[in-house]
Amino acid sequence: MNAINRAWLQQFRRRLIAWYQRSARPLPWRETRDPYRIWVSEIMLQQTTVVAVAPYFSRFLGRFPTLADLAGGSEEEVLRLWEGLGYYSRARNLHKAAQVVMTQHGGQFPNTAAALESLPGIGRYTAGAIASFAFDRPAPIVEANTLRLYCRLLAFDGDPRSAAGQKLLWEFAARVLPRKSPGRFNQALIELGATICKPESPACPTCPVKTACAAFTQGIQHLVPRPAVRPEMTDVTETAVVVMRGQQRLLIRRAPGERWGGLWDLPRFSINSHGNPAADTRAIAEIVFDRLGVQIGTGKLLAVLRHTVTRYRITLRCYVANQVGGELADSLGVARWVTPAELDDLPLSTTGRKIARLLSAR
Ligand code: ADE
Repeated sequence: MNAINRAWLQQFRRRLIAWYQRSARPLPWRETRDPYRIWVSEIMLQQTTVVAVAPYFSRFLGRFPTLADLAGGSEEEVLRLWEGLGYYSRARNLHKAAQVVMTQHGGQFPNTAAALESLPGIGRYTAGAIASFAFDRPAPIVEANTLRLYCRLLAFDGDPRSAAGQKLLWEFAARVLPRKSPGRFNQALIELGATICKPESPACPTCPVKTACAAFTQGIQHLVPRPAVRPEMTDVTETAVVVMRGQQRLLIRRAPGERWGGLWDLPRFSINSHGNPAADTRAIAEIVFDRLGVQIGTGKLLAVLRHTVTRYRITLRCYVANQVGGELADSLGVARWVTPAELDDLPLSTTGRKIARLLSAR
């Protein structure tokens, strides 16, 4: 393996920065030093691709151009702007953290990694990213792209997610970081990981630091890093119903601790009908009456949607039925009748939005 000594560090840094100046993608969050914008981008980019984030980022900042605007907005509106991006606790924490910065830091974004890490939703990586990108602090970073890059540079074939692996990688991230322009350097590391040192087919022949890379030198770049152990997928069948009262529909607000906490959803059930629509609709009518006091007519199957949430492959059988009697009596205060105009403004689960669109297209 190449020794990580002064000569290695010097050459690696020089080649990486020269390559970055030539090749960096012009991403919207790289054109600013505003910690607020950088923070929003980094939260959105967690477990989400650059391509998926870009339109959300510009819409979000169009509505909430400053930290004060975000802190003053409602959680519901924040979630509406996040709708479709997934991992909604990110949005709830972003909103909470904006309020903490306003009330406890006088509206000034903390400028050290340690202070940033005390905010809701900001972990070690995000703190290092904001401290280096916005304030040019020499704070190291390890996220998905850089983890893969470091493992290959070091030909590290242990488990990068273990405590020992994390310690090694964070130490390397601190060691490799120069004192000069650490923010730009961290961006360059991410860029190299994202565009050259890719997961499946790393573009080693065009890599500016291939001669400094132990995995390339040994020809083991395809074996490093060791793949994460993926949880096994579980098939789940769910049933949902659009209950109509004229143009209004019955929606349920999901509780904060639940999947999709804070979002609105159709009444949704696990019914063991073996896909028999008659059994589904009987069971739905019974549960809707028991829990919500609303009597509904025989439901019609509207659509069968398939989607994946974390480790669940969900088949959702969705029915439509009219209210025929009873009154909404919801002891938990989570259900309400919603007009089509309100539906546009409320944050909905992704399947809820798909079904709303299907219905309005009919
Ligand atoms: N992934 C995480 N942070 C990123 C950034 N700043 N630019 C591109 N991809 C990223």
